[in-house]
Amino acid sequence: MPTPLPLGTNDLVFTNPVQYLAHQLAHPWGVGAHLVAPLLNWRNGSLIRAAAETLELRPGQTVADIGFGGGLGLGLLIDEVGPDGQVHGFDSSQAMVDRAARRWRPQVASGQLRLQLRSIVDLAGMPDAFDAVMTVNTVYYIEDLAAAFTSTRSALKPNGRLVVGVGDPGYMKRLPVSRYGLRLRSIDSIENELCTNGYRVTHVRVGEPPTGDSFHLLVASTEPG
Ligand SMILES: C[S@@+](CC[C@H](N)C(=O)[O-])C[C@H]1O[C@@H](n2cnc3c(N)ncnc32)[C@H](O)[C@@H]1O
Repeated sequence: MPTPLPLGTNDLVFTNPVQYLAHQLAHPWGVGAHLVAPLLNWRNGSLIRAAAETLELRPGQTVADIGFGGGLGLGLLIDEVGPDGQVHGFDSSQAMVDRAARRWRPQVASGQLRLQLRSIVDLAGMPDAFDAVMTVNTVYYIEDLAAAFTSTRSALKPNGRLVVGVGDPGYMKRLPVSRYGLRLRSIDSIENELCTNGYRVTHVRVGEPPTGDSFHLLVASTEPG
């Protein structure tokens, strides 16, 4: 297997457009972020919708989308929990946070939507904050998955639900961007990491038109075994 190439250099000099795109997908920034955001919403729409549906939200609940990128998931979650609920969006890209803040200005003003520049591994100060959390197409960029799942677990209420959406590694490997630093873990290893962190996990395979390639939802519950 070829060694993954570095995602980018410190001075952000890219040797080819695919490397630039890979870097944008991992950490959208600058002008490119405005192109990447709709691309993400379009390309990942089916998986994001499936993840949001799998959360089985009720009006009035509090939910988070971590690594929301283009923000399609935020809109779906806002609709699901309604005006009495609250949606938190966390992303490690300032460009994505700023973009979402502009897109949902009224919801931010009313407090229905809270946006923060924050990593998935950094939710420790938010104990029992959420009924549900989703994170879609982010695990490829997370070095310490155990820390991420410990972090989400601490932020979930008892009987909370985490949904992790991820591309099948076989499919992901065929994408040119995967040569640039993506961590393509097996679905079993992600599931094992969730179990080790005390979640009960069910696994749903999701087909994605138009390619027919497959994605996975790992539905992880914090309810006691
Ligand atoms: C490939 S995009 C996926 C966006 C969206 N969830 C989707 O499926 O279209 C990855 C997003 O995760 C964000 N991200 C990467 N690492 C993160 C981390 N450790 N914590 C929070 N967000 C992260 C990036 O800034 C980017 O917006």
